[in-house]
Amino acid sequence: MFTQRRKALLESLPPDSYAVIFAAPEKTRSNDTEFLFRQDSDFYYLTGFNEQNACLVLVSDTQEAILFCQEKDPTAEIWHGRRLGVEQAADTLGMTKAFGFAEISEHLPNIIRGIGQCGYMFGQQRVFLDTIDPILLSLRNTPKAPDSAPVNLFDITPILHRSRMQKSDAELALIRRSCDIAANAHKAAMRACQPGLSEATLEAVLHYHFALEGARLPAYNSIVGGGDNACILHYTVNNQPLREGDLVLIDAGCEYEGYASDITRTFPVNGQFSPAQAELYDVVLAAQAAAIARCVAGNQFADMQHAALEVLVAGLIDLGILHGTVEDNIDQQTYRAYYMHGIGHFLGLDVHDAGIYQHKGEPTKLQPNMVLTIEPGLYIARDSECPEQYKGIGIRIEDDVVVQHNGCEILTSGVPKTRAQIEALMGEAYRDPLCPSQA
Ligand code: GLY
Ligand code: MN
Ligand code: MN
Repeated sequence: MFTQRRKALLESLPPDSYAVIFAAPEKTRSNDTEFLFRQDSDFYYLTGFNEQNACLVLVSDTQEAILFCQEKDPTAEIWHGRRLGVEQAADTLGMTKAFGFAEISEHLPNIIRGIGQCGYMFGQQRVFLDTIDPILLSLRNTPKAPDSAPVNLFDITPILHRSRMQKSDAELALIRRSCDIAANAHKAAMRACQPGLSEATLEAVLHYHFALEGARLPAYNSIVGGGDNACILHYTVNNQPLREGDLVLIDAGCEYEGYASDITRTFPVNGQFSPAQAELYDVVLAAQAAAIARCVAGNQFADMQHAALEVLVAGLIDLGILHGTVEDNIDQQTYRAYYMHGIGHFLGLDVHDAGIYQHKGEPTKLQPNMVLTIEPGLYIARDSECPEQYKGIGIRIEDDVVVQHNGCEILTSGVPKTRAQIEALMGEAYRDPLCPSQA
């Protein structure tokens, strides 16, 4: 799979060129401790290799894939973990050759000397400038052979990101599993929820269930917002008590074998929607259904957004939150006080996945095997000018889908979404899979 992807990129490179793609750097969390290492998604997509201090070089004219990676080092491995090592790397990862990362300035000049165009991922300037630029300078300074260095730098990001947009069957299998794990965790959180718990407890339930099913980490910082914390789109404080009579919004997904899921559900802390919560909830649910109905190959994100907006705005007018006609409110964007984000995004190795949303002003058309989220919401801030009963309510409903020729497949339908389904599930007791006496 990874060899195929390198081959595809090699074939897309211009003649007389090479491309350089770096592994992610280690990131400091505090003083001398680091964040858990997460590989750069593009580097992972091309190598399946999860170590830092590594660099892939692809050479168009020879079709070579050359890896620079960490040497084996018994002392470093005792402290920091096992390394694949240079000796094993070429065979294990299907590379043409491998060299030590520490020897890059010795070996890279011999690989790239005289090649006219150097491709890299714009945005990787720091590591590129630190590591590659001095090598290019040394080539440029080769006595009487200044044409040893490239004359052009070009960005390989568009080529690579275009190829990440339509998922292979193998990728879809991993995304399906990621979605199933996240769906089960959301159901566990719904069963566990009750007034008086902290938002942090529901976050713990989610992460526990992710890990129990083989997804150790969330794909992004989980959002667990009770009451009007749900109106903060990227709320991550997650430490407030969940109150009787409030809703709680959970936006959480896991990372499974590198692939993200991204689910949002909003449900009543006490298991029963109040009339005002129910009215707003049903508007968001109907808006999501309208957007899902427009999720079909050939359409655009804007078609889904527009379908959702018509339902959201009509609902807000019915409830006395907006006034006038649907058309005027959409034209004047009055709804932006209550719905201020897009309808969704691509999903894959990154939760906001690589993808091209428009090219030279032309919106991208959905194609089969693209994976995306559909996530309308309504967020009625406490200081909104609207009927009292709706103030402080935030609702989002988010599913992950695969685009097909005739529609789309919903990958996260395992988590209930109608009010009746949610209330029924919340009536069930939470059972801890590791406590057999309860199970
Ligand atoms: N969880 C981030 C998003 O839904 O886009
Ligand atoms: Mn999302
Ligand atoms: Mn989300």
